[in-house]
Amino acid sequence: QFVLFGNQIIERDHVSIDMEDRGYNFGDGIYEVVYIYGGEPFSLNEHFRRFEESASKLDMKLPYSIEQVKEKTAELIKANNIHNGIVYIQMTRGASPRAHLYERESASLITGFARKMDPPADAQEKGIKTYLTPDIRWLRCDIKSLNLLGNTMAKRIAADHSCGEALLHRDGICTEGSSSNLFIVKNNEVHTHPATNLILNGITRQHIIEITGEEGITVNEEPFTTEELQAADEVFISSTTMEIAPVISVEGAVQATYPIGSVTRRLQEKLKDRIK
Ligand code: PDD
Repeated sequence: QFVLFGNQIIERDHVSIDMEDRGYNFGDGIYEVVYIYGGEPFSLNEHFRRFEESASKLDMKLPYSIEQVKEKTAELIKANNIHNGIVYIQMTRGASPRAHLYERESASLITGFARKMDPPADAQEKGIKTYLTPDIRWLRCDIKSLNLLGNTMAKRIAADHSCGEALLHRDGICTEGSSSNLFIVKNNEVHTHPATNLILNGITRQHIIEITGEEGITVNEEPFTTEELQAADEVFISSTTMEIAPVISVEGAVQATYPIGSVTRRLQEKLKDRIK
């Protein structure tokens, strides 16, 4: 397996990460996950625009230009001969003697790997079960940072209840999934949390909002409650790796089951058209 380490594509075994890399000590870093379809990364520019935004929000500098990051990503995909899969790119603030205070001139370290993976056809077709749990994350969920404990803990709770995804709520307002954005459909209108500091503005989410516009479906980017989630006609989640997955049930703080409805199916289909 070939990986990206700094500005080099090298064998994974040849990588050495410093014990005091700030990503390792503080989770001081950012990342992106891009899907590769037929050897081509999907929405690469959008992902790396968000990467630059995350860096800027954390006062982090790229070690080389974003154009070069994109070129290295393309090289990485090629070196590993990926047809369908994902590429993961992260940047940490680099290594320095451990101290909370960061220096602005620190040397950021970009690393990445690519992996073969087929789209989760089963979840897309049959839907997934979800578990609703409090959103205990920090208040900058708009940054795609390496600090994911609130997300990983929620995912574990969901899995312990035999659910594929955790849905998160903050004081009764549904925010998003542990690794996805959340949508409900009521009376043929789509509702999703606005792109504030409380959610990650997913690239897939942005595609879905564009598609609703093209399809003449009303989308409300307004907060909605756990009661509205419970009373929804259809529910679905979106992410780079899931695309759109129908939600067939929610357990936990509220309980409901949902049919896989026509709005979800139409959006799934139109998103597939964009990807192909
Ligand atoms: N996660 N919200 C959260 C908290 C996420 O972690 C993700 C994606 C999304 C969807 O974003 P996008 O459509 O840009 O993938 C929303 C990625 C896939 C991950 O961490 O693996």
